[in-house]
Amino acid sequence: STALRGSFALKARKSNRGSHYGLQLVASYKVAILGAAGGIGQPLALLIKMSPLVSALNLYDIANVKGVAADLSHCNTPSQVLDFTGASELGDCLKDANVVVIPAGVPRKPGMTRDDLFNINANIVMTLVEAVADNCPDAFIHIISNPVNSTVPTAAEVLKQKGVYNPKKLFGVTTLDVVFGVTTLDVVRANTFVAQKKNLKLIDVDVPVIGGHAGITILPLLSKTKPAVSFTDEEVEQLTVRIQNAGTEVVEAKAGAGSATLSMAYAAARFVESSLRALDGDGDVYECSFVQSDLTDLPFFASRIKLGRNGVEALIPSDLIGLSEYEEKAFEALKPELKASIEKGIAFVQKQP
Ligand code: NAD
Ligand code: LMR
Repeated sequence: STALRGSFALKARKSNRGSHYGLQLVASYKVAILGAAGGIGQPLALLIKMSPLVSALNLYDIANVKGVAADLSHCNTPSQVLDFTGASELGDCLKDANVVVIPAGVPRKPGMTRDDLFNINANIVMTLVEAVADNCPDAFIHIISNPVNSTVPTAAEVLKQKGVYNPKKLFGVTTLDVVFGVTTLDVVRANTFVAQKKNLKLIDVDVPVIGGHAGITILPLLSKTKPAVSFTDEEVEQLTVRIQNAGTEVVEAKAGAGSATLSMAYAAARFVESSLRALDGDGDVYECSFVQSDLTDLPFFASRIKLGRNGVEALIPSDLIGLSEYEEKAFEALKPELKASIEKGIAFVQKQP
């Protein structure tokens, strides 16, 4: 796809490292993946290994990561791949990382909600983010572990308690971010559904999504679909529900073997590449993400964001203006659930002994 070619294209950049200044082709960023041996972690590591902007790729897991790193290290791309196993090696994995991606944790099985994963995954995220705070507090942190509506606030609270919280550098990254991101992608869930329904060329379709990442907190703004297209009330209802349940569709199809891994790895790799381009000074980087936000009365909210060297440079409020009546209602309806998930994530850290 154009988007994939664009985001992974070899880019010339101005290097300000060392004593000289020059235009070079440089791979100079360190990316750490925590949970790298998992269903998301492995394809994500492969995609990041393809990036010309990465010089060091550190893979951490509690088991099985040695083989993944040995395997990947044979690919003739610039980054050096190192493996780190278990808590005693976590600090070394994180030292000087520019971007830390966290897909560590358990996935859903059929019949479970994302919230059913909370206790185990919040614990994992808390421990890992404590180590991030101690070893690379300035890194961009990308949280994938579910339930994102709670684990991002959990991570924020850990960083606050450690005195290093920078809301501009903490992101919830979801499959849906890339699906509904500002760039057009050829293989995406909702764009696919809308394109199928309306017989549109997939590459042209772009549907923003706001809110959170679970059930009704996922709010696709079909009225803002680009190119402009009209839906019947029945179509809006049908598409909204299908988009909200897209993750569950995959969970059921995998029938006990986990949830989305490949599309998530693709989404996460794109988010990493966008973050690195932003760190590298590209002034035109937009993504969708679940971040600390003042766009609504909720402390965290997913919307389009502009990324810069220092993380979130701006939240893009325009999607929230001029919602349809259906979207207005859905927006009001999602607030209590999202609020409760956020509070649950924060309280989890606050009630630790
Ligand atoms: P998986 O079970 O295949 O992989 C998880 C990996 O995490 C395993 O390798 C495991 O060893 C590792 N792990 C467990 N505890 C750890 C710890 N304390 N430290 C480091 N690593 C640890 O699962 P998966 O399919 O890769 O999914 C991972 C998580 O991502 C799940 O919580 C899932 O719900 C979530 N997910 C989120 C989205 C999203 O849109 N945000 C999409 C898909 C999956
Ligand atoms: C998804 O949307 O695919 C993920 O959040 C995984 C899940 O549990 O559905």
